Amino acid sequence: MELRLILLGFGAVARSFSTITSIRSEAIKRKYGASIKFVAVADRGGVAVSEAGLDPLKLASVKKLRGSVSAVPELGKPGITPPELFEMVEAEILVDATSSNLEDGEPSLTYIHRALTDGLDVITANKGAISRGLRKLRAAASSHGTMLLYEATVGGGTPILSFARDLELKEGITSIRGVLNGTTNYILWRMGEGLTLEEALVEARKLGYTEKNYSYDIEGLDTACKLTIIANSIFNENIELEDVHIRGIEDLTPEDLRRAGRKGRSIRLIGSLDRSGAAEVKPSEIPKKDHLCVDSVNNAVEVATEFGEYFLIGEGAGGQAAACSLIRDLAALIRERLKAVEALPSP
Ligand SMILES: NC(=O)c1ccc[n+]([C@@H]2O[C@H](COP(=O)([O-])OP(=O)(O)OC[C@H]3O[C@@H](n4cnc5c(N)ncnc54)[C@H](OP(=O)(O)O)[C@@H]3O)[C@@H](O)[C@H]2O)c1
Repeated sequence: MELRLILLGFGAVARSFSTITSIRSEAIKRKYGASIKFVAVADRGGVAVSEAGLDPLKLASVKKLRGSVSAVPELGKPGITPPELFEMVEAEILVDATSSNLEDGEPSLTYIHRALTDGLDVITANKGAISRGLRKLRAAASSHGTMLLYEATVGGGTPILSFARDLELKEGITSIRGVLNGTTNYILWRMGEGLTLEEALVEARKLGYTEKNYSYDIEGLDTACKLTIIANSIFNENIELEDVHIRGIEDLTPEDLRRAGRKGRSIRLIGSLDRSGAAEVKPSEIPKKDHLCVDSVNNAVEVATEFGEYFLIGEGAGGQAAACSLIRDLAALIRERLKAVEALPSP
């Protein structure tokens, strides 16, 4: 089976995804009999297209030197947008790693919808599109027999969606609570060591832990967005970002962290959700030995069920964790495709 991929976006997540996929391509072929080929890659400057397949390492070096994948000699097409690309290239899978717009999910929402209705399966890391348009996208996928996977939108290192989906069937989840944003966790952790919020933010930016619009992180919107995705996916709710009670970390001072520290506690930005869909984001004082009191850019999620509690802990910022999540979705998608082929009546 040959699978042709269109990759939208060529930032930190997409570069890491395409590089790891290429490195793992032989293993994927051995395990699933599927060969993966990147037939098109897009950024804001245009696209690179090749029916024979693009080399992610070469694309990354051109992007670094010349600013856009569309500068690749012979294969680059400056100025072409994703809708124009869909007319030019045939593929089975769209991987969307474009920047998230939490206001209305666009333009990713339109691109994903178009791909699903054109018969492509979609894997996305775009939180804005999934937070704003999950219902519409699921309906499009279901009426066109395509698949939509989006684990990377809520936490690369803490794959809560697949974990919780399985638990929900078996044990009934009552609530979910956790540190869902690695950037703010890093900032609060460093503020606990005496830095101001501004100093910790500069450090997080230098280390590549922040996205372009870091106010989404600081103001709690990113965490709220992830809560809506979890609620709408796991509890089948229909909540919007506006339904979440949100307080960010912008008003916290090192003195707040010091005061908490004197009591053996610390402050973390906690998102919480119960199965009625009630969702809240706020900085909360928690004991240092609490499972959720993780350091650095880590995320931690507590899933309470009717029969006990589970914890997931993992890296919560940086392109690689999200890229690995996209790859797990790609593997899941390949497995589903193989099942569909096996279910076909023999000729
Ligand atoms: N980084 C993480 O830790 C993380 C974790 C989970 C999820 N995510 C999500 O993953 C996605 C990618 O994140 P990132 O860190 O890789 O961001 P990034 O480095 O800013 O890259 C975004 C990429 O999208 C491209 N892009 C934006 N709008 C586009 C459009 N309309 N058409 C074509 N390309 C477009 C940009 O093009 P240019 O290069 O030309 O600007 C850039 O290559 C985001 O939605 C983010 O929320 C990120």
